[in-house]
Amino acid sequence: MISIAPMVDRTDRYFRYFCRLISKEVLLYTEMITAPAIIHGDIEHLLAFDAFEGPVALQIAGTNVEEIFKATKIAEAFPYTEVNLNVGCPSDRVSGNYMGACLMAYPELVAEMVQAMKEATNKPVTVKHRIGIDGRGTLPDDQPKKIWDQYEDLYYFVDLLDQVGVDGLTIHARIAILAGLSPKENREVPPLRYEDVYRLKDDFPHIPMEVNGGITTCEAINEHLKVMDGVMLGRKAYDDPFFLAHLDHYLGHRTTVTRGDVIRGLIPYVERMVSEGHKGHRTLAHTINLFHGKRGSKLWKQLISPPWDDQITGKNILKKALLTLPDEVLNERP
Ligand SMILES: Cc1cc2nc3c(=O)[nH]c(=O)nc-3n(C[C@H](O)[C@H](O)[C@H](O)COP(=O)(O)O)c2cc1C
Repeated sequence: MISIAPMVDRTDRYFRYFCRLISKEVLLYTEMITAPAIIHGDIEHLLAFDAFEGPVALQIAGTNVEEIFKATKIAEAFPYTEVNLNVGCPSDRVSGNYMGACLMAYPELVAEMVQAMKEATNKPVTVKHRIGIDGRGTLPDDQPKKIWDQYEDLYYFVDLLDQVGVDGLTIHARIAILAGLSPKENREVPPLRYEDVYRLKDDFPHIPMEVNGGITTCEAINEHLKVMDGVMLGRKAYDDPFFLAHLDHYLGHRTTVTRGDVIRGLIPYVERMVSEGHKGHRTLAHTINLFHGKRGSKLWKQLISPPWDDQITGKNILKKALLTLPDEVLNERP
């Protein structure tokens, strides 16, 4: 299984619709949505999506067992295929609220949250986490604990999740350094340790596991799939989305999709979304890299970028794109 990573400000419903036009095979994720946002926010705005996007996994972040339970229950009204808990995000904003990667220092609490999620839904409950953390936000009134970056710590964490019946894990093969590194640096600076992830799969062969972090080529994916059950792609999928069509082809899935097909598929979507009150340019914003590395990339970016003239609609922009972008790129098959 290949999945497209949860990415805040990227993997919204518009990006997911666009990805689904390119690949029917990948599992898509929402952005991280906090439990309090789901409990107190506009759930239609936060959680609704098109059936066409499916399968989609919902990622929740939280720190309070009761809130996590409530949020998972509320999300039951929407046809997500899986609910995932974020234990990987190193952002200060998230760690400062004791969510995300800092929770790796509190395996018992994470296990309780997973248990609560499993009580709230019959869907698979999964966790996305790091291989460890260095420094962390300490929960209020708690004693500082040691750094959680050894394999034994990771084993202990996963063993507890196993005991409460976690249905799957996505492991970002880096530790998160919680003091001093930005989220961006935390996706680049700590070295990748795929060997830790493989060892975990070996120690818990019955837990479905996917590996994540720094994976950008078909060949690398193929190598990981020899050991792991799945691979999660983040930045590569955003920076070069048509790669997903090439990947489908490489993995032997039947696909004949072209960039032209994707644009033609976007036309009725943009029209419908705008008629429902969505902003046309937001609907198309995450398609920005459709022509990554190809002739026409600059023109595509110019066409979809705001400001749009008053008279211009998404439909007109897409039709113009089909007429002006190079045919050999529009019609290239994976
Ligand atoms: C812009 C951006 C936003 C992200 N937001 C989230 C998020 O909401 N939840 C999460 O678990 N990880 C988030 N991540 C981390 C990715 O899911 C993924 O673990 C990371 O990018 C490493 O994978 P990659 O090397 O394939 O990009 C985000 C990454 C990026 C680049």
